Amino acid sequence: MTAHAKPYANVLETIGDTPLIRLNRVVDGARTPVYAKAEIFNPGGSVKDRIALAIIEAAEKAGDLKPGGTIVEGTSGNTGVALAMAAAVKGYRCIFTIPDKMSVEKVRLLTALGAEVIVTPSAVPPDHPDYYTNLARRLAEERPNTIVADQFYNPLNPQAHYESTGPEIWEQTEGRVTHFVASPGTGGTITGVARYLKERNPEIRVLAGDPIGSIFSAYHRTGRVEPGTPYKVEGIGNDKIPSTLDFEVIDEFRQVCDRDAFHMARRITREEGLFVGGSTGVVVRVAVDVAHEIDDPEACIVCVLCDTGERYLSKLYSDEWMRENRMLRPERVTAAYLLEAKVDSPPLVSVAPGSTIREALDLIEEHNVSQLPVLEDGRPVGSVTESALLSAVMEEPARLASDVREVATESFPVVAGDAELDEITSRLTRRTPAVLVAENGAVRGILTRYDVIHHLMP
Ligand SMILES: Cc1ncc(COP(=O)(O)O)c(C=O)c1O
Repeated sequence: MTAHAKPYANVLETIGDTPLIRLNRVVDGARTPVYAKAEIFNPGGSVKDRIALAIIEAAEKAGDLKPGGTIVEGTSGNTGVALAMAAAVKGYRCIFTIPDKMSVEKVRLLTALGAEVIVTPSAVPPDHPDYYTNLARRLAEERPNTIVADQFYNPLNPQAHYESTGPEIWEQTEGRVTHFVASPGTGGTITGVARYLKERNPEIRVLAGDPIGSIFSAYHRTGRVEPGTPYKVEGIGNDKIPSTLDFEVIDEFRQVCDRDAFHMARRITREEGLFVGGSTGVVVRVAVDVAHEIDDPEACIVCVLCDTGERYLSKLYSDEWMRENRMLRPERVTAAYLLEAKVDSPPLVSVAPGSTIREALDLIEEHNVSQLPVLEDGRPVGSVTESALLSAVMEEPARLASDVREVATESFPVVAGDAELDEITSRLTRRTPAVLVAENGAVRGILTRYDVIHHLMP
């Protein structure tokens, strides 16, 4: 039957039955077909709509949630949106605890849907009472007629995907799916789908994308819980092991860095017209790599589009945020680009030839730099280094009052704003610690060896 042929009783009836869409351009010519299960088509915009409804309906059935009741959850956002949407339709109250690293759009969306949001610190360990899921559990214990959705430990989470997402993928591919790729957060999606698909065909390979910094990959390899490190992709990976993630059904974990994830998410939006968040970038990066590796037109890779990019307009879809977080990868790295990336540095600090050595040393100390260009009417006429200034003063302390021109040496080389990285590095030698960047005849900034190395570091 045609999709949406009949009217629905409410929005919750439109959850699931999401389309499977072939990815055409981001696969970079891979012969293996890659299909995306577009969970962004769910009314709440994410894969989490499915579990929220399943959890609420189970609680209603069990009598744990009665009219006027409250739903509490520690959520990075999408589960909150899904729970709040269902609560809006069903008339429940929602209280969410959400870690402070999550995007402002998510918090606003939850509030718009009528939920109360308590922002908790990201920098506390998982056993801390203020850790967002611990706080949620405590709030639920304190109130009558209140349930905690408990997505990280609730078996209904993977079960919802076992009952809906898995069978949909099997039917939509007519049983031809050979690889399934997802990125575990709670692990509900990958666990439920993998269990279903492997029951139908044990040969299906299941791969997990994991952000670098998450503890899942190492745990899968060694069985040990090592400490994690911070990363920027939201909703996936973890610093603890949830019981909703079944490592047994996952054949392989692959790690993806924030920069590659965001870059791929942006490409999916621009090249496929599918507006997705950063976790989808992790999933699709792995799916495309596998497509190239197996290079088999008869195979069928299915991956998950986890949530809509609208939740990240102030993050990965903001060039400013991407630059500040050193995530933008331009086609050409130019002097102008490197200057813009120096967001934490002071604007160009320089001295005039008639400034005193004392003034130059004060500037060096104040701005924590090692050298200064000497500029006259905006034109470079020389340079001074901290060590040359200090040597002069050590030899003869009275020289603190001398003009900088007396100790200045050759000016730093000048490059244009569109000079490329190769040209910049070739100018930076042991004796030349910096280059000046000039545009339209005016010196705009300075690039030091440190700035170039900072760019080259991952
Ligand atoms: C944006 C995003 N992507 C992916 C996932 C992962 O889904 P699951 O929790 O089913 O592993 C989540 C889960 O929180 C998420 O918020």
